[in-house]
This record gives sequence, structure tokens and C-alpha cells, in this order.
Amino acid sequence: MGAVIIDGVAIAKAVRAEWKERADRLKTQGILPGLAVIIVGDNPASKLYIRNKIKACREVGLHSEIHEFPRDTSQEMVLKRISELNVNPDIHGILVQLPLPPHIDSAKVQETISSEKDVDGFHLYNLGALVAGGTVFPPCTPYGVQCLLEHMDIPIEGQNAVVVGRSNIVGKPMALMLLQKGATVSVCTSKTRNLAQYTLLADILVVAVGKPRLITGAMVKEGATVIDVGINRLPDGKLVGDVDFEEAKRRAAYITPVPGGVGPMTITMLVANTVQAAERVAEKA
Ligand code: GUN
Repeated sequence: MGAVIIDGVAIAKAVRAEWKERADRLKTQGILPGLAVIIVGDNPASKLYIRNKIKACREVGLHSEIHEFPRDTSQEMVLKRISELNVNPDIHGILVQLPLPPHIDSAKVQETISSEKDVDGFHLYNLGALVAGGTVFPPCTPYGVQCLLEHMDIPIEGQNAVVVGRSNIVGKPMALMLLQKGATVSVCTSKTRNLAQYTLLADILVVAVGKPRLITGAMVKEGATVIDVGINRLPDGKLVGDVDFEEAKRRAAYITPVPGGVGPMTITMLVANTVQAAERVAEKA
């Protein structure tokens, strides 16, 4: 029997509708949730990402603004703009699109964003909160994966979860979130010796490495849930994930496609974090 294909587009739409209701409620209290996106340089992929982020905010009725800087902008200028946005009451979330040009220290930039407006969840305070078992601003991609699992009623507690990938943006926070929900978690990398030995134990397999078809069908446990975070463009222009979808779907019970799986959820959770940031401001008022 083939796997159920997890429809990230449909789930993202439903989740955005829920967050729109919450944003509308804030508007009745006179608060319009606002997101500021900073981009330095003209990386085409980054520009496409931020266009999609802004579009999602507009669909939910949030205020959003783009702060574009040329590639040779000094770090000082970028930090100055962040400091201004940190105290701007119309802005509840600040996101600096990565990667930044090499003369700018990304870590310094992340630490300059107020942890209360860090909707990416990359600030050390927010990462620390995740380690301590709290969720202030969960990083958007793993938060989106968790939301997909919850929407599909896929249990996490007591399950064997294997995360392939150890990035600060996806792998590490994903492992912590699954651990917090009671899974037994293993973290692997693309260099793990005999990777299949681990992946074959996974009731929930999350792959975020950036290597097309790293995970073959034979590496998937029968009945597993397979979440493919990878987005890779093949020489023929086709977009594929890190999992061999056609093979894996014959063994999995649930699987995300690429595109149309995790991608739409990442942007949705950015909207969620921005609305939540504004709700916290409303609570304090
Ligand atoms: N570049 C690629 N993914 C992301 C993300 O989730 N947030 C930011 N700020 N930059 C990125």
C-alpha cells in the first residue's frame, strides 16, 4: 500500500486561516501585527523567499515591510537599522534574511535583534529557551514540521525519531522539539557511518541535509512518517528533496512531497510567530 501524501499546501492554508482569526482579534484591540524583513545584497533565491514571506503576511492581513540594502552595506548600518526596528512599536517581528555577505557577522546580527521580536527563533535566548523545554519563538521550519505532524494526528510521544541534518536552523531545533514532545531522538548527518542502520529504526524520519535522494526506499522503515525538508534543484531544473520520493512512498505510511510539503509551512509559521509576538505585546499593555 502506498503512503498518504501530506499536503503541506492545504494544511498551510488551514493553519493560516487560524492565525488570520487571531490577527483579526488583535486588530479589534487596535494592534496590527507587523513584520520587518531585512535583506542585504541581491541573492535571487533570498529575494524569492522574502517575496513569498511578504505575500503570506499580506494574505493574513499583517503589516509587512522590506528593508533592502546593497551588498556592500557596512555591518554597522545593518545593526543600526535593527536597533531602530527593535524600538519601533509598529514592528513586532524582525527577520534578517540569510545568507548575509561575508563581511557581515551573522551571529552578531542575530544577537542584535531583540529576542522579543526574533520571529526566526535564531537568537541565543530563544535557542536557549528551546533547550530548556520552552517555546518562545520556535524556528519556523521545525515548528512547521511539528504542526504538520499534529495536523495529521501522527503521535510523537514514545516514537523513535531520527533527524538527518544538524543545522542551527532545522536539524538541531527539530531534534530538541521532538525530544520535548517525548520522542526518542537520534541525530545523524550526511556523514554518519551506515546511515540506514539509524533511519531503519525511525518511526518519524526528518531529513534536512540538502543532498538529492540521500534517503532511498530501502532506508525507510515500513509504516514510517517521512518528512523531507530538503529542496534541491537538479541539472534538468526539477526540484527534489533529500528523499527518493517514489521509492520511499511505497514503504512509508505518511510522506511529504517536494515541493508542496514542508515549504509552505515554514512561511506559515513565520506568520504565526509574528502574530504571537504582537499578542504578547497586547497582553503586556
Ligand atoms: N535563509 C534560508 N532560510 C532562512 C530562514 O528560515 N530565515 C532566514 N532569516 N533566512 C533564511
